[in-house]
Amino acid sequence: MLKKLTLICSLLAGTAAIAQDVVPIPPMDVNAARAELGKRLFYDTRLSGDTTLSCSSCHQPDKAFTDGEALSQAYTGAGHFRNAPTLANVGYRDAWLHDGRLGTNLNDVAREMITETYLMNMDMRIMQERLKQDPIYVEMFAAAGMSEPGNGGARNALMDFMKTIVSRGAAVDTGTLSSAAERGKGIFEGKGSCSSCHAGARYTDDKPHNTGVPDNPDIWASPERHSAFVTYAKFMGVENYMNLREDLGAYIRTHKDDTKRSFLTPTLRELVWTAPYMHNGAFETLEEVVDFYDAGGGNDPLKDARLKPLGLVPSEKADLVAYLEAMSGESFDTDEYVWREDDYDYVPIEDWNNAKN
Ligand code: HEC
Ligand code: HEC
Repeated sequence: MLKKLTLICSLLAGTAAIAQDVVPIPPMDVNAARAELGKRLFYDTRLSGDTTLSCSSCHQPDKAFTDGEALSQAYTGAGHFRNAPTLANVGYRDAWLHDGRLGTNLNDVAREMITETYLMNMDMRIMQERLKQDPIYVEMFAAAGMSEPGNGGARNALMDFMKTIVSRGAAVDTGTLSSAAERGKGIFEGKGSCSSCHAGARYTDDKPHNTGVPDNPDIWASPERHSAFVTYAKFMGVENYMNLREDLGAYIRTHKDDTKRSFLTPTLRELVWTAPYMHNGAFETLEEVVDFYDAGGGNDPLKDARLKPLGLVPSEKADLVAYLEAMSGESFDTDEYVWREDDYDYVPIEDWNNAKN
């Protein structure tokens, strides 16, 4: 009896946790000088091998740090097979990348981005030397408490900058939901059961699920994208990688059949800035996403049992979209998040060279 009661109580507590009013996302603890250094690094194309790409090429502040492409840009001569995710609130995630293959430290994600051949293709040894040649970096690393520019310090600084990217001012936080959004919230938490996966202040459980999102044929039609995919699948130890014509998602790290084609639940914060949607950019608009869920998700034998046809009428679909839009806040295209060389007071290179002699 007692056991039963506890079970009921914990079930009730669980429901309450899902239906509770969302709280704004608190700022994260960062070292300000390190975050400032990270901000400059984030916008610096010298972090890519041939100096054509910076982090901000694919994570643009006016798009909540995505790039607006269905499938992300990639290093010269390569193509990508995934959508570039938003970096809003990325410091709070438990696991990163659409398949969750990195789950310990945001710092590791920065390394992956910099060194991966189809992303920035940068040799860390050269990166370190490039940084040391730049007097602004010498000064900024010192200000951040590091004796000289180095790779570990650069990755930590990028991590601190990313931790400053926190959502603000969304209608869900300011308590200014329109009545349509309010009705959409009821569907989101009720018959849509969206909140069973999109839970908490970031609207994600940070776990992989199979929703049956359709394949993006552009991956296999493009030699540049396909060869990057093969490189990735081979590196992750997937059997038969030459013949694969599907993105296996979390399976790539678990190698368990029931995780095939499951992808981490993305945050629903900042959706108005981050189209197209899903790990492969399968949908252009939120209306398409809502139609997809209304149909019970896609066709996949491993699809999560929670996804069932919802039978929403057009006005309910519009309400749900209004609620999704209410989860977006202010633009990140502001001085706080964009590096402007002029804002930084430093010694010009000529003077620095003179000073060295
Ligand atoms: C050429 C495009 C490109 C560049 C340049 C790039 N990224 Fe990414 N980024 C991506 C893509 C695509 C993904 C998703 C990859 C995947 O799921 O395998 C991603 C994922 C991430 C993630 C994980 C987000 C999440 O929610 O899981 C972080 C963090 C990140 N990038 C930070 C950076 C940083 C820092 C830099 C610069 C050092 C950078 N990126 C440069 C395209 C890029
Ligand atoms: C079983 C868990 C689950 C349920 C239930 C669920 N989602 Fe999702 N949602 C996901 C996953 C996983 C993805 C990412 C799929 C992918 O990338 O292929 C996703 C993606 C999305 C996206 C795209 C976000 C982006 O940035 O790409 C939106 C919008 C969304 N869901 C809204 C909803 C709504 C609205 C509902 C309810 C009608 C819902 N979800 C129900 C797990 C779920």
